[in-house]
This record gives sequence, C-alpha cells and structure tokens, in this order.
Amino acid sequence: MSATYRPAPRRWRVPSIALLVLMVASCGSDNRLSRDELLDPETCKDCHPKHFEEWQSSMHAYAGDDPIFLAMNRRGQRETNGELGDFCVKCHAPMALVEGATTDGLNLDEVPQHLKGVTCYFCHNVTAVEDTHNNPLVLANDRTLRAGIDDPLNNGAHAARYSKLHDRDSPESAALCGSCHDIKTDAVHLERTFAEWQDSVFQTFTPNQTCGNCHMNGSDDVVADFDGVVPRRRHSHSFPAVDTAMIDWPGKDSQLQLIERELRDSVQTRVCYNPQTNAMDVTLTNIGAGHMFPSGAAQDRRVWVEITAKNADAITLQSGVIADDERIDQVDDPLLWKMHDTGYNADDEIEHMFWNITRIESELLPPSVTFQPEDPRFDHSVSRGYPLGANPRPDEVDVVVHMRAIDLAVIDDLIESGDLDPIYRERIKTFALEGSRQHWTPALAGQNLCVP
Ligand code: HEC
Ligand code: HEC
Ligand code: HEC
Ligand code: HEC
Ligand code: HEC
Repeated sequence: MSATYRPAPRRWRVPSIALLVLMVASCGSDNRLSRDELLDPETCKDCHPKHFEEWQSSMHAYAGDDPIFLAMNRRGQRETNGELGDFCVKCHAPMALVEGATTDGLNLDEVPQHLKGVTCYFCHNVTAVEDTHNNPLVLANDRTLRAGIDDPLNNGAHAARYSKLHDRDSPESAALCGSCHDIKTDAVHLERTFAEWQDSVFQTFTPNQTCGNCHMNGSDDVVADFDGVVPRRRHSHSFPAVDTAMIDWPGKDSQLQLIERELRDSVQTRVCYNPQTNAMDVTLTNIGAGHMFPSGAAQDRRVWVEITAKNADAITLQSGVIADDERIDQVDDPLLWKMHDTGYNADDEIEHMFWNITRIESELLPPSVTFQPEDPRFDHSVSRGYPLGANPRPDEVDVVVHMRAIDLAVIDDLIESGDLDPIYRERIKTFALEGSRQHWTPALAGQNLCVP
C-alpha cells in the first residue's frame, strides 16, 4: 500500500464562528450539534475539509442545481399536470423533500442551498434500504452519522457509528448507491446501473467489487482535522464519471480532470484488417465499468467510435467525425457505430422525456460476467466491420471512442419547448477516451494484422 501519511494534526482547524459559539453554548454534551446543524454540509467543513471539498465539486452536490434537471422537471410537471410529483426531486434533492421545503422541485430556486443535491446527511443517516430502485432509502433522522469506521474517535460534535450499508468492503453497500442509481417508471426500467451490476462478475465474484470499490478511491489519510486522529483509509467523495457542471461551480476544473482520468481506460479497443471481407474490424471491450458502458442515464448519453483510414494520405474510410456542436442523429454517416439507449413513446417515435417513454432499445457495452478464461462468456467484447469497398488495405488507420453526457437532441428538445436557456448548448462536453486510441499500420499490426 502506498503510504502517503500526513502527520495527524495536533490541533483543531480554526473553527467557524458559528461552530465556536455552538461549542461553547453546548459544552459538556456528547454530540452537541443539533439535527438542523447536521443537515448543512458547511457544518462538516471545518473537521472534514477534504470530504467537503470533494463532495462540493461532485454531481451529488450539483444534482438540485443542474439547469438541465430543472428544465426537465419543469417540463415534466407541466406535461403531466403535476402527476410527476416528487418523483425527480426525491433523488436530486432528497433532504429538501424530507424537510418539506419542496414537494415537486419547482421551487428549488428558493430552497436553501444546504438542502439541495445529495447531501452529507442524506447518505450518512441511512439506516435501511427497502427496495432496489427509485430511492427506497430510509433515514434514522437522528444525530448519528454512519459510515465504514467501526472505532470512530469520540468527537463531541456528533455521534458516529459503523454501518455495513456504507462500508465498501461489505456487499450490502452496493444497495445504498444502487437503489438510487436505478429508475423504474410505470412503463420501463429506465436506468439500470444497479441491475446491471448485479448481473456482472463484480457482484457474483467473492469478495465482490461494490460501487464504492471503484467509485470511492481510498487513500491513507486522516479522515478529520481533529486532535488525536490517526490515519485510516479515507474515501474520495468526488464521484467523477461523465456529467459536468453547466454553471459556475466549485472545483469544476479539478472535477473535469478526474473525469478524463476516469474515462481514459474504461474501454479497450482492438483494430484488425480483415482480408476476407476487405474491412477494418474494430473490437470494443468494457474493461473498467462494473455495469454497462455507458450506464445510468443511457437514454441521454452518447458514445461513438471515430475511425479514419488512409491510403497515401487520401481518406478511404471515415466515420464518427462529429463536431462539438453537431448532433449525432443529424450527421450523414451510415457507418456510425454508437452506443446508447433509445427511448420510444406510445406512438413509437423517438422520445427524450422519461415520463413519455414506453419502450427502450439498448445498445451498450456489457461488463464482464466471469473471470474464468475458459468460460465462453469470458469474451464480452463487441465487434463491428467497416467495409473498405473498392479501396485496398489502408496504410494507416486511427480509431478513438468518444462520449457525451447528454445528447444535443435532448438539449434542443428542451430549448424548443422553452424550458432551457440556449446558452447551455455549447457547454455540453465531448470527451475522447484517450486510452481507447489506436493507430494501425501494416508494420505495427504485423502477422495477425491487428493492433494491439
Ligand atoms: C468537531 C469536528 C467534527 C465536525 C464538525 C464533524 N465531524 Fe464527523 N467526525 C469527526 C471525527 C473526529 C470523527 C472520527 C474520525 C476518526 O475516528 O478517525 C468523525 C467521524 C465521522 C464519520 C465516520 C462515522 C463512522 O463511524 O464511520 C462520518 C460519516 C462523519 N464524521 C460525518 C460528518 C458530517 C456529515 C459532518 C457534518 C454534518 C461532520 N461529520 C461534522 C469530527 C467532526
Ligand atoms: C439520493 C440518491 C443517490 C444516492 C444514495 C447515490 N447517488 Fe450517485 N447520483 C445521484 C444523482 C441524482 C446524481 C446525478 C446528478 C446530476 O448529474 O445532476 C448522481 C451522480 C453520481 C455519479 C456521477 C455520474 C455521472 O454521470 O457523472 C456517480 C459516479 C455516482 N453518483 C455514484 C454513486 C455512488 C458510488 C453512490 C454510493 C456511495 C451513490 N452515487 C449514491 C443520486 C444518488
Ligand atoms: C453519496 C453518498 C455520500 C455523500 C453525499 C457523502 N458521503 Fe461521506 N461517505 C459515504 C460512504 C459510502 C462512506 C464510507 C466508505 C467506506 O467506508 O467504504 C463515506 C465516508 C465518509 C467519512 C468517513 C471517512 C472515510 O473517508 O471513509 C466521512 C468523515 C465522510 N464520509 C464525510 C462526508 C461529508 C462531510 C460529506 C458532505 C460534505 C459526505 N461525506 C457526503 C457516502 C457519502
Ligand atoms: C469495476 C469497477 C466499477 C464498479 C464495481 C462500478 N462502477 Fe460505475 N463506473 C465504472 C467505470 C470505469 C465507469 C465509466 C467511467 C466514467 O463514466 O467516467 C463507471 C460509470 C458509472 C456511472 C456514470 C454512467 C456512465 O454512463 O458511464 C455511474 C452513475 C456509476 N458508474 C455508478 C455505479 C454504481 C451505482 C455502481 C454499483 C451498483 C457502480 N457504478 C459499480 C466502474 C465501476
Ligand atoms: C431513483 C433516483 C432518480 C430519479 C427518480 C430521477 N433521477 Fe435524474 N439522475 C439520477 C442519477 C443517479 C443520475 C446520474 C445518472 C448517471 O450518471 O448515470 C441522474 C441524472 C440526471 C440528469 C443529468 C444528466 C444526464 O446525463 O441526463 C438529469 C437532467 C436528470 N437526472 C433529470 C431527472 C428528471 C427530470 C427526473 C424526473 C422525471 C429524474 N431525473 C428522476 C437519479 C434519479
């Protein structure tokens, strides 16, 4: 284990005035912070500065401020005459709902910031998980904060307790994350990250790889700036994946870097020349994700392959070259290989809005289901041939995989209905998965005609 121990600080960090007043006022009690104070992530900042800073830059903190979320919820409430109710806000600002500060998310602008997003208190107060989807998490609503430490130091500010629902080394912890990362509507199983994980080798293998094993990196560190603490495994709270903040948001640049690193090696690419079919065969393997790739909001996500083949510098085959402001459903590119879910409505038209989706077609990269090389299911890669037509074997071929968190068609749909300000369109990022880049030449490919 790489020891990056920092000496445990021997003193308190300078506490905020509010905290000082409080400490003096309630001196003597064992956990002096009230439940109201524990609801506010700012309360945690003095003692857990790193957790705070990482969380603040995460999509969990941002979930109730996301202009795209607000636009979609607004439209959904209007189109369903309010039948959507608390469906969306239950996951995007659960404490605002618990505290009665909102019923449908339409007034989130006026809701105090500390109740928006998936907050510290929400995750750390869970005592039970009652189902597999649509946020069935039960809070104790007490003043005890739960996580994976079984011998927490007495801190005087709040009670702390071990919980297997929070410990990434315990299989139960996947249910805490998973049941919020899995959405069922009356018509469809819309987002399926938890279900996908349950079918993967990451769930069936012992010891299993929970969500936290991959999404909450551990480092040897103190977990609080507090007298007497010793280093433990501190868990990252940045949760980088693919969504980015569309507005000014704390830690935006560092989050972007983490996302690029996280995406880098998610998918492995192999490129071969096939002399039988005179085609370039591209093979993609989901090597990083413990579920499909893409996953979750896959009806909004777009992943596609860019390929360019050349002979003597003339392009003989090209697909997937898409400008940052270009819609992938509008390019004239019959060979385009894209991976995402497509939602359809009752009239069997393509549909972007959850509440109207009655059917889903899915084309995603599956995760591993076995670690046994002799098991036929071991190879879970997906291949596609790109015909070269009348052109000969190329001199060089370049391949890379791209990803967009939200399809521009969804954005345009929200702009057209007047729910989203057009300024957000150009803020949608297109990522290149750097680890997926392959450069093919006959020399690099050698006898088997493949790279790598
Ligand atoms: C006065 C300082 C202080 C404040 C304020 C504070 N904590 Fe803590 N907290 C600690 C200390 C100290 C520990 C124990 C660390 C250890 O044992 O290494 C701890 C432990 C924890 C644990 C681990 C529980 C377990 O048993 O696994 C969680 C979760 C936690 N705090 C969350 C929070 C949250 C959320 C807030 C804000 C609402 C907060 N803390 C505010 C000092 C504080
Ligand atoms: C209360 C429901 C809830 C719980 C519990 C929850 N999440 Fe999330 N999570 C969300 C929401 C909502 C978002 C998306 C916010 C957005 O993009 O606007 C999100 C975003 C994320 C992202 C970033 C996704 C992206 O596309 O960029 C990751 C990764 C993630 N969560 C992992 C986890 C893990 C791991 C756990 C368990 C430790 C967990 N979540 C627990 C609701 C939840
Ligand atoms: C999406 C859910 C989620 C949110 C939001 C969240 N945490 Fe955590 N946190 C966890 C989980 C899960 C663990 C335990 C990881 C483990 O032990 O495997 C944890 C662990 C901790 C710990 C114990 C030390 C450690 O690193 O394991 C502290 C302290 C903590 N969190 C503080 C905070 C603070 C402060 C906030 C808000 C600023 C916050 N957390 C927000 C899920 C969350
Ligand atoms: C074996 C490691 C691994 C496990 C286990 C795992 N994930 Fe992931 N997850 C990844 C990787 C790698 C990605 C893709 C990288 C990215 O999006 O930046 C990803 C992406 C995501 C995303 C973004 C969605 C997308 O389109 O890619 C979410 C949300 C998420 N994971 C949540 C979860 C939850 C919830 C669980 C547990 C039920 C889980 N993950 C289990 C590795 C893992
Ligand atoms: C069961 C919890 C849950 C419910 C219910 C839910 N969401 Fe989400 N939402 C999430 C999670 C988790 C993510 C992150 C998904 C991912 O990265 O895979 C997310 C992401 C999003 C995003 C951002 C990113 C994207 O790529 O699409 C938007 C917008 C959004 N949700 C809107 C809504 C709206 C509108 C509703 C109600 C119609 C809703 N959500 C209901 C959990 C939920």
